[in-house]
Amino acid sequence: MSLASLPSPLHATAPGASSRTVELCDVLTKAVRAAPSTEPAHRTADRVARGLAGFLDHRDLLAPAHLAPDPQRYRQHVLHVDPEGRFSLVALIWLPGQATPVHDHTTWCVVGTYRGTEEETSYRFTRHADGSSALEPVATTVNPPGTVTYLTPPGDIHLVRNGGDDLAVSLHVYGTDVRRHGSSIRRRYDLPV
Ligand SMILES: [Fe+2]
Repeated sequence: MSLASLPSPLHATAPGASSRTVELCDVLTKAVRAAPSTEPAHRTADRVARGLAGFLDHRDLLAPAHLAPDPQRYRQHVLHVDPEGRFSLVALIWLPGQATPVHDHTTWCVVGTYRGTEEETSYRFTRHADGSSALEPVATTVNPPGTVTYLTPPGDIHLVRNGGDDLAVSLHVYGTDVRRHGSSIRRRYDLPV
């Protein structure tokens, strides 16, 4: 294969991304591509988390356009999709009170808080023998700027919200191509299951 035919690691970065975002994409690309195909998801996620952690104190990480909120709901800015579809980097922008539905994922997910306070509540889903089901909150964690967490399915049912009074911004790395698949969400638990 010639060098000209190799996909650039920056090939699918969003137009207008800051040079620091481009630098982060390069670090994430190396972290994901270092994974053998048989590597357990938590090992890949842990390596990606360590790569992301080094960028969360950079004030120039996101271009102003990628910090814009939506008054109606939390907003997603897709910053990068790996040309081989192995991961996506998304900035989530939250106004106070904005939250996701209760949901889980099809793939590993690494989350770093960049600004404000992100609050995560995890849930346990139980289906009973009579066909009824229950969704119970298990724990809530408060993640200030600089916090990096990750989850690996199954058992990753959660809800994320802006837990503070100011704008919150978090960086999410998903182990899938969110442009191709729409999102990494497997199921929303506010819908019939
Ligand atoms: Fe999630």
